[in-house]
Amino acid sequence: MLINGQASERVAGDDRGLLYGDGLFETLAVVHGRPCLWVQHMRRMESGCRRLGLPRPDPEQLREESHRVIPRQGVGVLKILVTRGCGPRGYRPPGDPLPTRILYFSSCPEAAESASSAGVAVRYCNLRLGRNPALAGIKHLNRLEQVLARAEWADPAIAEGLMLDTQGLVVEGTMSNLFLVRNEGLATPRLDHCGVAGIMRSRVMALAGTLGIPVEETDLRPRDVAAANGVFLCNSLIGLWPVRSVAGLEQDVRAIPDALKRAVEQERRAP
Ligand SMILES: Cc1ncc(COP(=O)(O)O)c(C=O)c1O
Repeated sequence: MLINGQASERVAGDDRGLLYGDGLFETLAVVHGRPCLWVQHMRRMESGCRRLGLPRPDPEQLREESHRVIPRQGVGVLKILVTRGCGPRGYRPPGDPLPTRILYFSSCPEAAESASSAGVAVRYCNLRLGRNPALAGIKHLNRLEQVLARAEWADPAIAEGLMLDTQGLVVEGTMSNLFLVRNEGLATPRLDHCGVAGIMRSRVMALAGTLGIPVEETDLRPRDVAAANGVFLCNSLIGLWPVRSVAGLEQDVRAIPDALKRAVEQERRAP
């Protein structure tokens, strides 16, 4: 683990990332020693920094540090965290913050495997996402909603939980974004009140565009999910996961366009 460029496992007890979740993170797939979709992850981090008023980390420095933590030909996950650093007691952000950078690699050979074509089973979570446009879309460090939602099930046969917001709209999975396949094309929840604007979500939208598949960002409810021709989830690590059942209701994994699945699989490994 590198903390501000130094090999260390220790973060200061008064770091605002620890105290308040005051910071951002990125989770990148690593294949053959290379972090995938680097530019897109850096852009999201930059936009998160702007929205939170955090000094932007130097992407070249992060690149150099990522090379130091990723083993040659390593396959797994690179985590990059940036916090507002330490500061005086209290919520008020320091006027001149000294951000903390944390980078580490976790080996995970499954990261190189393709998505299961048989699909995954998912459930609905009881915990609702709060609506807050000021934080919507940002991959910030406040993840208690996801932690509580993920604590709702232990059954290994359930791969993911779908989360609704306080108005009953479907937003995303605990660690993934959601797409429905409908006659008219793809539909994915709007993320202007809550949710994480996933890198893979935006890549799926772009790839669908190049394949001539229309994509709509819209309000979706559980009844829309039940009525879809197909359902899939995505994130930077899993790529695209076809969903074979939602809350016990079967879904047709064949409804997901093969060309899109192939394109996402290639994308997942893109440098
Ligand atoms: C809550 C949540 N939504 C969506 C995503 C998907 O994001 P990405 O495609 O950038 O991996 C993640 C990824 O960890 C997540 O934790």
